[in-house]
Amino acid sequence: GGDAAGSETAAGGGGDTITVGFSQLGAESGWRTANTESVKSALTAANGIDLKFVDAQQKQENQIKALRDFITQDVDVIAFSPVIETGWDEVLQEIKDSGIPVVLVDRTVDTSVQDPYATWIGADFEQEGKTAGEWVAKNAPDAKVFELQGTLGSGAQVDREKGFDGVVGQQVVGKASGNFTRAEGKTAVEAALQTYPETNLIFTHNDDMGLGAVEAIEAAGKVPGKDVQIVSVDGVRDGLQALVDGKFNYVVECNPVFGDQLATLVKDVAAGKEVPKETIVQDQAFDQTTTQADVDARKY
Ligand code: AHR
Repeated sequence: GGDAAGSETAAGGGGDTITVGFSQLGAESGWRTANTESVKSALTAANGIDLKFVDAQQKQENQIKALRDFITQDVDVIAFSPVIETGWDEVLQEIKDSGIPVVLVDRTVDTSVQDPYATWIGADFEQEGKTAGEWVAKNAPDAKVFELQGTLGSGAQVDREKGFDGVVGQQVVGKASGNFTRAEGKTAVEAALQTYPETNLIFTHNDDMGLGAVEAIEAAGKVPGKDVQIVSVDGVRDGLQALVDGKFNYVVECNPVFGDQLATLVKDVAAGKEVPKETIVQDQAFDQTTTQADVDARKY
């Protein structure tokens, strides 16, 4: 299985519909929701793609099960966004043995399997962390930083930490994970404000956790953006709104809207065409000069 020719009857009209199994890691953040929408609106029947979409609810075991189901269904291409980097060796080998090509989406894998995927599309997480660190080095060089990490062991967490700490690691007084969700971000910051009362800047690995941090800071009687500055990653509408409201100080973008690029890659891979090993999605950054009009124009 795995070759596009095998799906020729799937279109019903003798067309060449490509069947794609996509294992999304979850729906933990505004970023993820926007990414899912972008993927679903690009990988469509009108675009020659039959998408089998499965949400793993941030559980690796669910993703592994979905990937095995895709092998059983003999889809043409398997795409997935891995919740963490490790633990994929066995299932990646099974996919490889099945001959179905893999398109890795957003996050990265750390595996001993040789040539585990045809292509990867995602953001440069390490650069995002570095950009955030450079803002801190320039604008808050004396700040005591608490680092609010994403899901431990995820490519987004590992690389943002590496990029940020490489620039201003000596300013970090404590770290804990908020698993990329608003609720867990809030809990982690409630604890951090007790454990590291000197904290006056939070570097959060995503906007949702940063918005949870805002709630925790306000509940502690402090002013987010002033008493405790917040530097974030993503740039979803709520994050940019927090910038305009003065509660966030700086946001490094992670762009989730790459469904069209993914659709092209999937088609090329299914057709056996040569594809680049990686496609880096372009990001920008936002400071407090961001306007309400910018927020209103934001699509997600
Ligand atoms: O992998 C990308 C990250 O995952 C986003 O920054 C975060 O919001 C999401 O949960």
